[in-house]
Amino acid sequence: MNVLLIGSGGREHALGWALAKSVKVAKIFCAPGNAGIAEVATCLTLDVSDHAAVAKFCAEEEIGLVVVGPEAPLVDGLVDSLHADGIRAFGPSKAAAALEGSKGFTKDLCQAQGIPTAGYVRCSDLATAQAAIDTRGVPIVIKADGLAAGKGVVIAQTRDQANAAIAACFEGAFGGAGAEVVIEDFLQGEEASFFVLVDGEHILPLATAQDHKRVGDGDTGPNTGGMGAYSPAPVMTDELVQRTLDEIITPTVKGMAERGMPYQGVLYAGLMITDKGPELIEYNVRFGDPECQVLMARLQSDLAELLIATCDGNLDAVKAQWDDASALCVVMAADGYPGAAKKGSVISGLLAAGQSAGVTIFHAGTKQNGDHIVANGGRVLGITAVGATVKQAQSRAYAAVSKIDWPDGFCRSDIGWRAVAREEDLA
Ligand code: AMP
Ligand code: GLY
Repeated sequence: MNVLLIGSGGREHALGWALAKSVKVAKIFCAPGNAGIAEVATCLTLDVSDHAAVAKFCAEEEIGLVVVGPEAPLVDGLVDSLHADGIRAFGPSKAAAALEGSKGFTKDLCQAQGIPTAGYVRCSDLATAQAAIDTRGVPIVIKADGLAAGKGVVIAQTRDQANAAIAACFEGAFGGAGAEVVIEDFLQGEEASFFVLVDGEHILPLATAQDHKRVGDGDTGPNTGGMGAYSPAPVMTDELVQRTLDEIITPTVKGMAERGMPYQGVLYAGLMITDKGPELIEYNVRFGDPECQVLMARLQSDLAELLIATCDGNLDAVKAQWDDASALCVVMAADGYPGAAKKGSVISGLLAAGQSAGVTIFHAGTKQNGDHIVANGGRVLGITAVGATVKQAQSRAYAAVSKIDWPDGFCRSDIGWRAVAREEDLA
């Protein structure tokens, strides 16, 4: 069958790379794609906010599966429109995408279903929010309710910081996304991500991962979309995975179905492993980026088969096989990221780097310019390696990074530090 992939990041390159290995997949199209995705798919310009245009393209090219990578088209209801036209599309409906699109919705669901998460209050005006901060004290976490491209969360150590954060939200720093604010208690622990596929009813656990959100070594500096990741997450023991399924994922899937908005797609749980066990920080309704790169590097099953089973409600009939090895991804970003990043600089050495042992290079913000690959965004490359240990995957990824000649790019030099330290402690 032919597949249409939507998106342009490292996540979509990893999905396209995995789909290209499927015996079920004939041709892959990607809108808009990037220079790396162009190696596995035909990239095209398609306005994905024009749902009729996407449906028309699917009919013309006999698309048997649409895979939506990022959250924005999901929250915008693209999957609903495609389903209405009888087109198979992977991802949740607009209503179910509220699990990512509205933090308040998710917190209320958690409360109703008894899912462990930080205590919270939803506020839609400044006075209520200030009163909540006065009562709850600091540290406290302030979140814009809606989608804010990962920038809508402030961990306030002082009341002044907390008050500044709510003022910024209500003054429109995040547009409509900040018209409501969720104020929640600060959770202490180690973070981990857990990914499952859900077909409305059945749950297929995928894998665990950890990412590095801060831009600088030692987890310092501003937050980014993610500077690197590894899978599996050593903190997620089998017991914690089972507790997450029983206490968090299953009641969510049941609660969504009971509310008439059954969840279909990949569900990405951001967890805090506290001394009480796993607690939900947030849901995302898509694969993580760069977590997807490390998941796809370890996936041995046919991705198309898993995504089709998700869409068709047959997840109870399939299994996902994983390489026991560790995978680790180092993101290379353009100077300036996460602020305004410099575009157009030439990147060389990719061929040699991609031939390093155990390494796959996923492109994010890249563009083909004549014979050159040039930077075309903030996060540009995801150098991904598998290894018998996190340490080996890390060494392999950084060996490949050293072969890339890109004076205008940078990466963190310590991706995986926590997992490597854990391995060394156990050795
Ligand atoms: P979110 O966008 O909700 O994932 O939040 C971004 C980051 O803020 C998370 O990855 C955590 O590092 C941190 N965070 C969010 N909520 C909390 C919380 N209640 N307690 C501690 N840290 C949090
Ligand atoms: N890497 C974090 C995310 O995809 O949300």
